[in-house]
Amino acid sequence: MAAPERLQALPDIDAALWRELSRAVRDRHHAWRFATLATVSAQADGVHPEARTVVLRDCDRAARTLLVYTDARSAKAQQAERRPQGVLVVWSPALGWQLRLHVALVLHTSGLQVSSRWAQLNLTPAAQDYMAPLPPGTPQAAPGAPPPDRDSRSHFAVLECQVQSTDWLELHRDGHRRARFDAEGARWLVP
Ligand SMILES: Cc1cc2nc3c(=O)[nH]c(=O)nc-3n(C[C@H](O)[C@H](O)[C@H](O)COP(=O)(O)O)c2cc1C
Repeated sequence: MAAPERLQALPDIDAALWRELSRAVRDRHHAWRFATLATVSAQADGVHPEARTVVLRDCDRAARTLLVYTDARSAKAQQAERRPQGVLVVWSPALGWQLRLHVALVLHTSGLQVSSRWAQLNLTPAAQDYMAPLPPGTPQAAPGAPPPDRDSRSHFAVLECQVQSTDWLELHRDGHRRARFDAEGARWLVP
């Protein structure tokens, strides 16, 4: 199979990367479905970086937002509320593209957006992930997830990631390329 033609114009690359993000939230096998989300934790002894894997659940190109589901009591949710800046990193070997998305974080714990998504999720076994009796990361005597008790309620939250700037890196045998897309426009960078 012939290699796909490389896109040359920055607007075409911007459109293509959002197309791929839209695919990733629908396609379980897309490498971009799993992103690394970095946040900042402010402790008494200073500021610490944190990072973990999350699933990209929804994508709105017009609004330039991505959605992640999480437990409202998780460390990442707390960090997002205290320091609402993060970075999402994805890499696709098939595309040869890495994205580093600088995002503003907004945690939603109520409202139609949350209730309608919870109504869907609540019909699936994954609902248990958001019903642990104690917050994620609480020390416990035995391994595994404690069963939700009768009084367990959902701690489901939607973490909205508003993309403010995108650093796109393409690894290619004919030469690597890098570009930044943000409020000031699009420009090429030295890879
Ligand atoms: C493949 C994979 C996908 C994950 N997806 C999510 C997710 O969408 N949301 C989430 O809150 N945690 C997800 N996790 C768990 C987080 O990586 C992390 O371990 C957990 O949420 C606690 O993180 P925190 O203490 O930084 O909040 C995922 C883990 C893996 C390995």
